[in-house]
Amino acid sequence: MTRSAVEKTDPSGTRLGELWSILPEEAGSDDTGRLVVGGVAVAELAERYGTPLHVIDESGLRRQMRRLADGLTARWPNSEVLFASKSLPIVEMYRVAHEEGLAIDVAGGGELQLALAGGVDPQRIYMHGNAKSEAELELALSSGVGTIIVDNEDELDRLDRLLTQPQRLLLRVIPGVEAETHASQATGGENSKFGVPLGELERVVARMQRHPLMEFEGIHLHIGSQILNTAEFAESVDRVSRIGRFPIYNVGGGLGVKYTYAEEAPTVEAYLDAVVAEAKAKLPADAKLMIEPGRSIVARAGVTLYRILSVKRAVKTFVAVDGGMADQLDIALTGQRYEALLADRLGEAWTETVQLVGRQCESGDLLVDGAPMPAARVGDLVVLASTGAYSYSMTNNYNGALRPAIVFVHDGTARLVTRRETYEDLLALHAPSISAA
Ligand SMILES: Cc1ncc(COP(=O)(O)O)c(C=O)c1O
Repeated sequence: MTRSAVEKTDPSGTRLGELWSILPEEAGSDDTGRLVVGGVAVAELAERYGTPLHVIDESGLRRQMRRLADGLTARWPNSEVLFASKSLPIVEMYRVAHEEGLAIDVAGGGELQLALAGGVDPQRIYMHGNAKSEAELELALSSGVGTIIVDNEDELDRLDRLLTQPQRLLLRVIPGVEAETHASQATGGENSKFGVPLGELERVVARMQRHPLMEFEGIHLHIGSQILNTAEFAESVDRVSRIGRFPIYNVGGGLGVKYTYAEEAPTVEAYLDAVVAEAKAKLPADAKLMIEPGRSIVARAGVTLYRILSVKRAVKTFVAVDGGMADQLDIALTGQRYEALLADRLGEAWTETVQLVGRQCESGDLLVDGAPMPAARVGDLVVLASTGAYSYSMTNNYNGALRPAIVFVHDGTARLVTRRETYEDLLALHAPSISAA
């Protein structure tokens, strides 16, 4: 595998940037110009496992987990990194994150079941959710979940009824920090649906502290996702520091990543420096500091492979692939911009700019609006880069689409960790199949 500098230039001659900056850390090309990830040519993976296919570079993924965990511990020893598992909630990810020593954030009963199936120690699980049902809370308690992150007082009423032994709790607050990101990804502004308003905090904390079985340990906040300005994380630390003194401060996730050649994102080190500098200035020195990144752990480690099914040269050139918004919903939801490449033609000059479209029945099913590439042909393999986070999580069955498979690659070997959905899976939920089940 080689990795010579490949500067990409669009058909009009504009310099776009370095090819490898948006591909997995363990990506390169073989001597025929084919993309290799984790030592395996992605074309071979597509042949073996079919498309659409998610491919995860396991070494890059583990390295990024260690960068965050070791980096935080070096700066603030009494600390913990939680993997925000909503970014890629598959059993193998829970297993790997647990093996790398990360704690786990789950949002609800489904993610909790996946985490338990991945062998995560329940004591290292933090259960989130702004509307946890009684059944989910019962499941959390009976599974021995270490900490529940309480969102509201109705949840406290439920816990009051359910608790039979001491339970560690954090309380989520609305910090009133408006992060600069897509509206659907901003969660810390005053109008947020997540958490308790600051004005109610004293009373709610007092209620928890009075309760014989509620072990209130501290405050949680999360200001949003795909945040590229580290000053906003520092602001959120400042905000919790003004709420009061607690044993634990969990300041959430949200670190943004570089999706396009043109975009710049903070390094893990710059992010940790910003958070910890503010923590050192404002938080009690003996407090425990937690962060819960998701996207910044998995996004770059993943790519999605698609096969081109049609090339239509109309007013615009439409290159249609065998997947779409059913497996990359975040594009329609948050306007996420990705870069696309032809997997086996890396060295070729880009001669046209196309609309890379999916197969779902919406004009909004546009994977990339203006993707520069060599003249595309039916059968070419398309790589959508940096799709490790929130792609599989948001996959759905629109138009009867089947959920793609996921393979982990490492040191020249590939292993299937999540199988492709089948028509049988699709039918199993519905009558008459259910009557037979
Ligand atoms: C409570 C909470 N924590 C952590 C995260 C992870 O955010 P990100 O994947 O942007 O790091 C999220 C996702 O938005 C979240 O809702």
